[in-house]
Amino acid sequence: MRRLVSEVRPHPAQLVLPMFVADSPDPQPIASLPGVMRHSMDSLAAAAHDAASAGLGGIMLFGVPQPRDKDATGSAALDPNGILNRSLSRVASEVGDSIVIMADTCLDEFTDHGHCGVLTPGGRNGDHIVDNDATIELYARQAVAQAEAGAQVVSPSGMMDGQVAAIRAALDAAGHTDTAILSYAAKYASALYGPFREAVDSSFTGDRRTYQLDPANRRAGLLEARLDIDEGADLVMVKPAGLYLDVVSDVAAMSPVPVAAYQVSGEYAMIQAAAQRGWIDGPAAMREAITSIIRAGADVVLTYAAMEVAPTR
Ligand code: PBG
Repeated sequence: MRRLVSEVRPHPAQLVLPMFVADSPDPQPIASLPGVMRHSMDSLAAAAHDAASAGLGGIMLFGVPQPRDKDATGSAALDPNGILNRSLSRVASEVGDSIVIMADTCLDEFTDHGHCGVLTPGGRNGDHIVDNDATIELYARQAVAQAEAGAQVVSPSGMMDGQVAAIRAALDAAGHTDTAILSYAAKYASALYGPFREAVDSSFTGDRRTYQLDPANRRAGLLEARLDIDEGADLVMVKPAGLYLDVVSDVAAMSPVPVAAYQVSGEYAMIQAAAQRGWIDGPAAMREAITSIIRAGADVVLTYAAMEVAPTR
């Protein structure tokens, strides 16, 4: 009877697996993300096949360049031979259309200062701040490079104003009219991104409060989603997910486009850590967390647990 009347049933087709690929010959575990690998090109290809066979809806690729390939403007992000663009080409040739291939469109993995964009020369009050308009020009070029490499979806995650419009215009001008934009629309300046920064070997110190949202502000999430929809986003995302179910619900109630939510690294790691100590039932807690994100209104969930949750359909 409970099965008959269940309102929400997480389905593999609505799950997206975030994946890390490094410029190194061997895959490596990530200490703060148990069960998640920093892939080599070959292990990424194998894992992408597994994700497609499990029926997942998509994979989201993040590149981890060698430290020597990082610079102030994140130029490896635009280079067709940069680690992310190379891995997109490889995965596209391996799995084709059997799963949606998404790319993180952001400079933070590629800049030597770890910010999501290029910095203003003078800064403000002695602090370096991100130059919004110079950054979106780079995002636009990065998105075209990613589409050319084989990404079917580009995913601006830097929270720059006008990033969706700039990317849409550049993609269309380059003939990539079919490449979709999944916009990280309501992305909060959260303490839950810590394990991710280990995963991508981030050069970052400080905070992103000049461009990510204040966790105290619910209306701001709705406003950011609306702006991105107006600029042409094909999907909008709320991030993190589990602590922001009110924002997921607000955005889902008004959005004319599908809504995604990202169960981020810290959300995943907290459940794994408690489960490792035997304090909670890990698989049950993970499933409950993902079910709740969908119940709040997410159509699509990005989760490091996608492969574990998928077979229990
Ligand atoms: C930025 C980006 C971040 C995450 C996804 N895209 C890091 C940040 O904003 O600092 C975090 C995802 C996670 O914690 O799982 N490219």
